[in-house]
Amino acid sequence: MEPADLPAAAADPSAAAFLKALRRTLRTRRAQTSRAQRRAASVALARRLSSLPAFRRARCIAAYWPADGEIDPLPALQRAYAAGKTCYLPVLCPQRDGHLQFAPWRPGEPLRRNRFGIAEPTAPRRQWLSPRMLDLVLLPLVAFDGTGTRLGRGGGYYDRSFAFRRRAAVRRPGLIGVGFDWQRVESLPRWAWDVPLDAVLTERHRHVFRSL
Ligand SMILES: Nc1ncnc2c1ncn2[C@@H]1O[C@H](COP(=O)(O)OP(=O)(O)OP(=O)(O)O)[C@@H](O)[C@H]1O
Ligand SMILES: [Mg+2]
Repeated sequence: MEPADLPAAAADPSAAAFLKALRRTLRTRRAQTSRAQRRAASVALARRLSSLPAFRRARCIAAYWPADGEIDPLPALQRAYAAGKTCYLPVLCPQRDGHLQFAPWRPGEPLRRNRFGIAEPTAPRRQWLSPRMLDLVLLPLVAFDGTGTRLGRGGGYYDRSFAFRRRAAVRRPGLIGVGFDWQRVESLPRWAWDVPLDAVLTERHRHVFRSL
């Protein structure tokens, strides 16, 4: 991103401080959800996702390996796999710092930890897909608002990797955030680099912001 495109966070310390505090509060709350709540949310997510027409159409679906109290999307991915879809998990792109690629993964296959300790599939690089080749992506989030703005952990990985989706004409892949309903906040600032979500699935609702 060019310096000229960076008016927001850097130039607005109060917004940056607000987001930092919000991340901390919500991540603490998320870490405190019980196993039973997480399990129920994970099962609800699988059911809710499979009822979406965009899921039925999708051939290549990516999710994430859960950490830090995030809702486990693996039962949803298992359903996708059982329905004959190819499933992917994100891997750090070795050529481009801060960007993700997607490696195929079959439920049950072993994973290995990357340098941040995050589990990644072991599939060889020639089988990886670039973000634009996917049909549907499940993204973890710390918070979201009523317009689909997403607050992640703050690394900007998803924003960089799906920056091409900021163009209104580009509709694929569908970007679906996953979180608990209480992670919805009134309003989040949206920086120039933020890629908005098409929908968010929670343990209770389907929030749709753009047609999928
Ligand atoms: N397209 C981009 N080009 C360059 N830098 C970017 C881009 N997208 C995001 N960034 C950088 O990433 C940093 C973090 O972004 P942001 O706070 O939106 O993270 P996030 O969306 O919460 O994180 P994540 O997606 O990793 O969960 C920003 O300060 C910005 O400098
Ligand atoms: Mg962002």
